[in-house]
Amino acid sequence: MRGIAILAAAAALFTAQDAFAAGNAEAPKSVDWAHEGLFGTYDRAAAQRGMQVYREVCSGCHGLNYIAFRNLTEIGLTEDQAKVVAAEYTIVDGPNDEGEMFERPGKLSDYFPAPFENEKAARAANSGAMPPDLSLIVKARPGFENYLYSLLTGYGEPPENVELMEGMFYNPYFPGHQIAMGEPLGEDAVEYADGTKATVDQLARDVTSFLAWAAEPTMEARKRMGVKVMLFLIIFSVLLYAVKRKVWADQH
Ligand code: HEC
Repeated sequence: MRGIAILAAAAALFTAQDAFAAGNAEAPKSVDWAHEGLFGTYDRAAAQRGMQVYREVCSGCHGLNYIAFRNLTEIGLTEDQAKVVAAEYTIVDGPNDEGEMFERPGKLSDYFPAPFENEKAARAANSGAMPPDLSLIVKARPGFENYLYSLLTGYGEPPENVELMEGMFYNPYFPGHQIAMGEPLGEDAVEYADGTKATVDQLARDVTSFLAWAAEPTMEARKRMGVKVMLFLIIFSVLLYAVKRKVWADQH
């Protein structure tokens, strides 16, 4: 009897934890990404548009600490184009010979600068919430790309029975449904250099493609290596089998 009670308690605890872990967030929408699957590669055009979205919209609040300007050649920018992007940022460098920090334009070896001096400043500007660095965000949330896309496109009016806290916005894909980030994307939030129509759906797809690359720039090399290893193993197995037949051919 006691055993059953303990089991029941354990089961209740587990289900409670499950519900908590999921934070009653809605399951993300399912989107087809060009970089999915064994042979998938990043859609360079989408990633470049996504970079534009990040730079013009998200970078006001979110850093991209782990991406250097030189990395941008990996999504198809030429080195000269990456230099132009870098030079549009002001980097604090130093100290110089007088011991002073100084400002200079960015260069290829610099990383995207953070939008706020420190965490306190970031929170003060965002009703107490901290906008996380976006370099690894796609890998850091269950649902990955689909979660980010759903979060960006999922804003809406709260249902009747939901009372929003001060400074919060309704988004069913966010655990708890209330997020301190206001809807960042609106129709034509950026004017795409390549003329693509900037619908909210398009903007969200593009910035997600860009951030998926940022979170795993070496994915394509990893997949290529995986395919090579599989090919090697297949050929090696065939050879081994042939050798085995040859060696045992006259042993009957
Ligand atoms: C005005 C400032 C601001 C802008 C602009 C902004 N965000 Fe945010 N973002 C925030 C804040 C604040 C949070 C923290 C929200 C919270 O914890 O409730 C956040 C959180 C997030 C999160 C984390 C959600 C989670 O699961 O924890 C992601 C992902 C995100 N933002 C992506 C973006 C993207 C992509 C853009 C550009 C399209 C963007 N944000 C633009 C302020 C901003």
